[in-house]
Amino acid sequence: MSTTFDLLLRGGTVVNQNGIGVADVGIRGGRIAAIGDLAQAEAGDELDARGLHVLPGVIDSQVHFREPGLEHKEDLATGTAAAALGGVTAIFEMPNTRPATTTAELLADKISRATGRAFCDFAFYVGAGRDNTEELGELERLPGCAGVKIFMGSSTGDLLVEDDESLARILASGSRRVAVHCEDEERLRERKHLADEAADPRAHPEWRDEQTAFRATDRLLRLARAAGRRVHVLHVTTAEELQILAASRDLATVEVTPQHLTLRAPVCYETLGTLAQMNPPIRSGRHQEALWMALRAGVVDVIGSDHAPHTREEKAKPYPASPSGMPGVQTLLPVMLDHVNEGRLSLERLVDLTSAGPARVFGIAGKGRLAVGYDADLTLVDLQAERTITDSWIASRCGWTPFDGKKVRGWPIATLIRGHVAMLEGQLAEPQGRAVRFAETLPRAR
Ligand code: DOR
Repeated sequence: MSTTFDLLLRGGTVVNQNGIGVADVGIRGGRIAAIGDLAQAEAGDELDARGLHVLPGVIDSQVHFREPGLEHKEDLATGTAAAALGGVTAIFEMPNTRPATTTAELLADKISRATGRAFCDFAFYVGAGRDNTEELGELERLPGCAGVKIFMGSSTGDLLVEDDESLARILASGSRRVAVHCEDEERLRERKHLADEAADPRAHPEWRDEQTAFRATDRLLRLARAAGRRVHVLHVTTAEELQILAASRDLATVEVTPQHLTLRAPVCYETLGTLAQMNPPIRSGRHQEALWMALRAGVVDVIGSDHAPHTREEKAKPYPASPSGMPGVQTLLPVMLDHVNEGRLSLERLVDLTSAGPARVFGIAGKGRLAVGYDADLTLVDLQAERTITDSWIASRCGWTPFDGKKVRGWPIATLIRGHVAMLEGQLAEPQGRAVRFAETLPRAR
């Protein structure tokens, strides 16, 4: 009797911990059931993957989807649709919504809003504030929680924890890895006049300069060391931060974004204006080269998109009244596949950054590896496909991308989530996203 699967991917080039090679993938009950030569097997459904690379599902561990409160920019349906179209199988969403996600009720509200509407799997961060410090240890253990997020410098929204004493208390409350936006609020305030006087987005990396980022990361590492608490430093942008982070690998993990690896100051501000404005800023070539060196040296753990949609009207306000942030969840993979084709990183390293990395950093249960027993989250890509990224392709409600007009080689063809085909050749299926589970907070069996 031959083996049967719910779904069989035939003849794709599988990229996983064993290397890269042609293999079939058998899926049963939403999980990977077999990898290898399954020519004799039968399946309810089959997908011809010949000519495609089969990657473990891409996990974007930093997005802002704006629901509740700012749905004119994005909501959980449009944001996750953009994710699935871009080959992303799971997203972790940030707490700077309106209201900010700072209580168990608000976290449960996001989970119930996402259920039945999300096109990919999801988890939500809880925002650290002065009012919920004592509860963070409990909040971070709730189902669907990706962990605690700290904003050390103010960005979009009103979540902010700037002083060492409050930070130390937060780091002493709870035990999971804490994700942190590192910009020094005091220095941001001192230097704001530079942005006001220039009234030009080219001043953005002057106002929010290297020292602003370095000081915050340096302070965080000292406080995390004192507390014995693991931290994840989001969207790292400077050569100097990478040096101290490389010396703190026992404690700290590192995220970089495709934008910081791809766009450069000052040219990005000259061509894109305020569309290129994000926090921390896009910086000069010296820093971009340092990011690539750190990525190759293994100092970078994950690529996150920091998808932060704002409408074109909002972005058209004169700098610095224009909001910071750009969409990115849908373009993360095509932009990075193009870097692979340009020889800037290997496909194996990309998979390490987008699947194994997030699984390791956040302790995701049953995802992040293309291996038997894991969730059947798979991203199928055509490495040879040449396409142009355009605003019209963007499913985010904001309707634009900083990469409009960019020609890329490498494109997501299908997104499989727990064995169902969430996206095939640009067509989305019904939303079936579920909460991601984490190893440190698995519920006890009854
Ligand atoms: O540029 C940014 N935009 N950086 C952040 O940290 C927040 C984000 C947003 O939510 O708009």
